[in-house]
Amino acid sequence: MKTIGVLTSGGDAPGMNAAIRAVVRAGIFNDFRVMGIRQGYSGLINGDIGDMNLSSVADIIHRGGTMLRSARSDEFKTKEGFKKALNVLKVFGIDGLVVLGGDGTLKGAKELSNAGIATIGIPCTIDNDCGFSDFTIGFFTAVETVVDAISKIRDTSTSHGRANVIEVMGRHCGDIALYAGLAGGAESIIVPEVEFNIDEVCKKAIQGKNRGKLHHIIVLAEGVGNAYDVSKSIEEKTGIDTRVTILGYIQRGGSPTSYDRIVASKMGIKAIDLLKEGKTGRALGIKCNQIIDIDINEALEIKKEFDTEMYNTAKILSI
Ligand code: F6P
Repeated sequence: MKTIGVLTSGGDAPGMNAAIRAVVRAGIFNDFRVMGIRQGYSGLINGDIGDMNLSSVADIIHRGGTMLRSARSDEFKTKEGFKKALNVLKVFGIDGLVVLGGDGTLKGAKELSNAGIATIGIPCTIDNDCGFSDFTIGFFTAVETVVDAISKIRDTSTSHGRANVIEVMGRHCGDIALYAGLAGGAESIIVPEVEFNIDEVCKKAIQGKNRGKLHHIIVLAEGVGNAYDVSKSIEEKTGIDTRVTILGYIQRGGSPTSYDRIVASKMGIKAIDLLKEGKTGRALGIKCNQIIDIDINEALEIKKEFDTEMYNTAKILSI
């Protein structure tokens, strides 16, 4: 193998740049020619590809977003689009690929690998919804962003004696809500994995108010329901003035935490090591603080488990 490509696809995640940097630098260190594929699978189909060198990844380890840009490509999911992508790889002489992204992106990596392209997948998504890895790159940065927001909202919530519903990202996975809710001392955490009971939330708010509590923070994962509906129900059932904050894309940006940078750097190196050893069709993960690699087909079959113990911990601490 002589030439490898690197791409980022799907929703971006802080730490993607650190991973790109590691792939490019470790690749060059190991005498590979490294090519950057811009805008994910769309760029692959369109041949939006260029050579990368040591300086092209300078000054990016601390930056959010992805210098290779990202996209969600419907064309890549079609037979024709996939064929085009394989042809472009052939034309550019790319015989190995490192793919950075979440679940959907890694499914694409699996298809490429099964079509004979040496492919390694690195889990990068703020959602932390990859069952084969304890954590995904970008997750802890997003959690920090949310915790910071919770603290700020709590200040004003206390001043006004209000309840605040804070909607965070996570359509199917409640990890951002769970981790940030625990770290931010939220009174209620609402996630898709646990049946939502509005009366329980209201009971807690009333009990808190009766004890003289001036704030009430409810962290809601976007997949559960509409934050404004939840807020309205709380206001109607408790009489507490309630406001909504939808954090949205602020969670996807920002400088990655050192943990995300470190894991990204380690995974970038590991991806190159595997390609050098001729191992392909692997997904990287982190388990018990060790970087692991597993068959990408098997990896994507592993269901993400919800941390019920952590959820219960948060519940106990917010009585
Ligand atoms: O997959 C990451 C994620 O940020 C989800 O949490 C969120 O629901 C989704 O992406 C938003 O996607 P888009 O960028 O397509 O609006």
